[in-house]
Amino acid sequence: MQRVRERRPQEFDRVLSSMCTEPHPRAHEAAVDFLATNPGDPETYQTVAELEEEAVATLGEITGLDDPYGYIASGGTEANIQAVHAARNRADAAGDAIGNNDHNIVAPTSVHFSVTKATEMLGVDLRTVPVDDDYRADLDAVQAAVDDDTALVIGVAGSTEYGRVDPISAMTDIARDAGALMHVDASWGGFVLPFTDYEWSFADASIDSMAIDPHKFGQAPVPAGGLLARERATVDALAVETPYLESTSQATLTGTRSGAGVAGAVAAMDELWAAGYRQQYREQQANAEWLASELAARGIDVVEPTLPLVSASLSPATFDALREADWRIARTADGDLRVVCMPHVTRASLKAFLADLDRVRS
Ligand SMILES: Cc1ncc(COP(=O)(O)O)c(C=O)c1O
Repeated sequence: MQRVRERRPQEFDRVLSSMCTEPHPRAHEAAVDFLATNPGDPETYQTVAELEEEAVATLGEITGLDDPYGYIASGGTEANIQAVHAARNRADAAGDAIGNNDHNIVAPTSVHFSVTKATEMLGVDLRTVPVDDDYRADLDAVQAAVDDDTALVIGVAGSTEYGRVDPISAMTDIARDAGALMHVDASWGGFVLPFTDYEWSFADASIDSMAIDPHKFGQAPVPAGGLLARERATVDALAVETPYLESTSQATLTGTRSGAGVAGAVAAMDELWAAGYRQQYREQQANAEWLASELAARGIDVVEPTLPLVSASLSPATFDALREADWRIARTADGDLRVVCMPHVTRASLKAFLADLDRVRS
């Protein structure tokens, strides 16, 4: 205990690289209250199981789905893995009839690395296709990559490195024509996209499943991801029997799960959906645009922030000096600086960051 008492969790004021943030105070309280509950066994832990149903219903409201199926996962990684898992199992069941279980998944190179984990574990082939000049999935390449063995097409709504939204409707059409399911990864973007004009949701296209994480822009405590599905068959394709529990089946990847994430997600969404999240989106989008223009004014190449995420070219020496100055910053695969304007990122912290940037460049 002494070892823990001596330490405090890291402050967020210099964290510009993370897609997590400080939980809303009400969400924090709810998480502590439900720390000892396990929604993995809903018959035994009935209160948290009810809360989980309410969480899924609210996520359905946010993403334009009236009767959502799904659950609160440990994060976007689990939600993506389970989307691939369900698509593979559904394709397997269909393939059994015609003797073909050789499946592939098509996704842009901008897809989160959790999809690589998913395809490796599940033994399906991942076909990545290039993005266009604006970092969005290239539709011709998606079209060329799908075939009769494609089980799932994945589009990203709020990409990890550049905050881009793939052409979800057109990708869904391509998936449908190929007889494949369509999954949207809105793990990061899902709580800001409702306030934009993007087409990304269940209401905008006949997508089959979605990842949307309360523990990112939703301001819930970790672990709170979300897997949503339009059809019961998607969740049923994941279910296994659970003989020794009070409940008889489980569709989650993990067994015992944290009720803290579930309760925290419900509390955060009660507090913030929709006005609080709208306000947060406006403030962080304004912060991102402000930072982008300040960087451009210093002669730095910036990728236009279409969601609250700024990417810019910085020399390795400048980047390293800023990390030395204790800024928590990260790079894209191409080496660009990436600043995620999460709710804890204030104009004051961005000004302090720019002051350090000017100092290390002079
Ligand atoms: C688009 C996207 N999908 C999935 C994930 C994985 O989420 P998690 O780290 O919660 O598993 C991330 C993480 O940042 C992400 O940006």
